[in-house]
Amino acid sequence: MPTPVEIALARLEELGAISDAPSHLVRTFLSPANREAAEKILSWMAALGMETSQAPDGTVRGILPGKNPSLSPLLIGSHYDTVIDAGKYDGSLGIIAALAALESLKLETITLPFPVHLLAFSDEEGTRFQTTYLGSRSITAPLDSETLAAQDAAGISIARAIATESPTATAAPILYPAGTPRGYVELHIEQGRVLEEAHEPACVVTSIAGQSRLTVTLTGRADHAGTTPMPLRRDALTGAAACILAAESLAQSSPPLVITVGKIQVHPGASNSIPQTATFTIDLRHPDDEIRQNSLTRLHESYLRIADERQLHLHWLPIQDNNATPCDPTLTASLLQSLTAITGSTLTLPSGAGHDGVAISKICPIAMLFIRCRDGLSHHPDEYATPADIATGIQILTHFLKSHNP
Ligand code: GLV
Ligand code: MN
Ligand code: MN
Repeated sequence: MPTPVEIALARLEELGAISDAPSHLVRTFLSPANREAAEKILSWMAALGMETSQAPDGTVRGILPGKNPSLSPLLIGSHYDTVIDAGKYDGSLGIIAALAALESLKLETITLPFPVHLLAFSDEEGTRFQTTYLGSRSITAPLDSETLAAQDAAGISIARAIATESPTATAAPILYPAGTPRGYVELHIEQGRVLEEAHEPACVVTSIAGQSRLTVTLTGRADHAGTTPMPLRRDALTGAAACILAAESLAQSSPPLVITVGKIQVHPGASNSIPQTATFTIDLRHPDDEIRQNSLTRLHESYLRIADERQLHLHWLPIQDNNATPCDPTLTASLLQSLTAITGSTLTLPSGAGHDGVAISKICPIAMLFIRCRDGLSHHPDEYATPADIATGIQILTHFLKSHNP
């Protein structure tokens, strides 16, 4: 019979093969592959004897009632959506490792004293709507009207996507009033190089960096590429190029500030037409919220200058703003004890990447375990964690579940 770790490794491949594109891995909010992945996770939860359900936004839940179902539940899990041309581990590993830890307990015939709710979120990356943590935000409170109005590239709003693409539009949302769960614990790949350089398989997370996401649109005037002299042009794309380089130099001059422009669209988008509009995304992060806000202001001011110099109209649209989120000291100390018990390490790290814990921290204490990933590479198809490190992560999670006191 395969071990829980062997099952987990096979499941990573199985989930990693479910994609909306034949050539690479992509599963965005409520896409066909996203829904297929949810079905697969539901079947794994059911095989473990969990009581399963799915929210209208696609998020999946499996419940193990434990010895005392009336105690407040421990939430564990991660997200099953991906970025475009993703790796197989970001998000998926946290769900699959949680299943493996519960499977290990079952093999040891251990019933936990409290309920465990395994959550698999339909959207954390925000790839389709630019809005991160849709799945985990939805379990803390109904999504607000501004979020529901956000549109994807095809002009479909989140509200409409949930109404028309949801596998369970009529199902009850999965909601936890603040204070009702005892905590949320997530295992995730590190996505940086620190564990590799420290020769450690895992560590515990102290905090999750804040981030701001925006969409910027520059509007100029379309015109003929062959007949319009250079001084008379109002080219939105050359303006966007200046803005993107301004973002890069701001970040380069203020470490650890990081700014990314990951997507750009041009209209009309023909080789012989001067671009009328250029719309691009901004993802800006800094561990210090005040510095992040000041950096946003400086960037906005530089964009106003660039637009003015080039006779362009600037539309600066904030999409999301998340403050830095500390992990809970008590829950983290308990996870650290398990890390030390299994690996001997006491290593802790802040997370530069965003995680569902940011949203869930509104309703309960959060803690995170990081697993080493090769070359720190993530959001890339070569993302990889070794079977040995995955096994260690599952052992730490299992130890934590066993030693957590109600
Ligand atoms: C999620 O991976 C993020 O940090 O954007
Ligand atoms: Mn992730
Ligand atoms: Mn990610």
